[in-house]
Amino acid sequence: MKSRWLHYLAVAGAAAAFAAVGAGAARPWGVGLALALHGLFAVMMVLVARTSRAWAGPAQPFADGGWPSLRMMAWAAPVSVLLQIALGSAYRNELIGLIPHVSWAFLTAILALVLALFVLTQEARHEPLRRWAMVLLIATGAQVLLGVLAFVARLMPEGAGALSGAIHAHVGTGTLVLGVSAAMSAWILRDAVPASANSPVETGHHT
Ligand code: HEM
Repeated sequence: MKSRWLHYLAVAGAAAAFAAVGAGAARPWGVGLALALHGLFAVMMVLVARTSRAWAGPAQPFADGGWPSLRMMAWAAPVSVLLQIALGSAYRNELIGLIPHVSWAFLTAILALVLALFVLTQEARHEPLRRWAMVLLIATGAQVLLGVLAFVARLMPEGAGALSGAIHAHVGTGTLVLGVSAAMSAWILRDAVPASANSPVETGHHT
């Protein structure tokens, strides 16, 4: 029972952090506060995963071979997305131009898509990971599209107008990409067994 309440609290915390990030979509928060709120959402999403019924269930270990390993991407993906968000927030606060954000977007999007596809093609038996991977795949694809629309909105001399929704959606989907990649990382770092560890675990090699 206690764990169920902890889970509800984590979900409520994630919703509150998401709303706070969303509030910054109309009028940008300063870079520090924006990163703190995006980071808070990511922490809450990890707590949502760790307090879930699936997490309390039996471990689902799988061998993590090949390069890059899922464990490697579990560390790299959330960090890359957080840097992407920092560059987006710095642009919104007119500290830098848009090029760094758009350039880093390619690496971040490819890393998130590869992470999701490796899980879907190699570890689809791991139910919680498979579900998060589907969300990450869709959210990342939508985020790049929304980014282009947000960019076009910024170019419109008479102001974003109808496209201001794209900016709001881009900020919200950006934090979702961060939160989902962080939750996936928690699962991967718990269940992915480095192939070097000669433990008798099912091989789901990916190369
Ligand atoms: C995985 C890829 C991406 C992520 C995670 C991401 C994330 C974000 C986030 C979170 C913000 C708002 C930061 C804040 O809270 O202040 C932002 C702003 C922005 N991003 Fe991205 N972004 C991505 C890709 C792109 C791409 C590909 C483009 C354009 C081609 C783009 C264009 C923009 C623009 C124009 C803004 C400023 C919005 C405004 O206030 O006008 N983003 N991005």
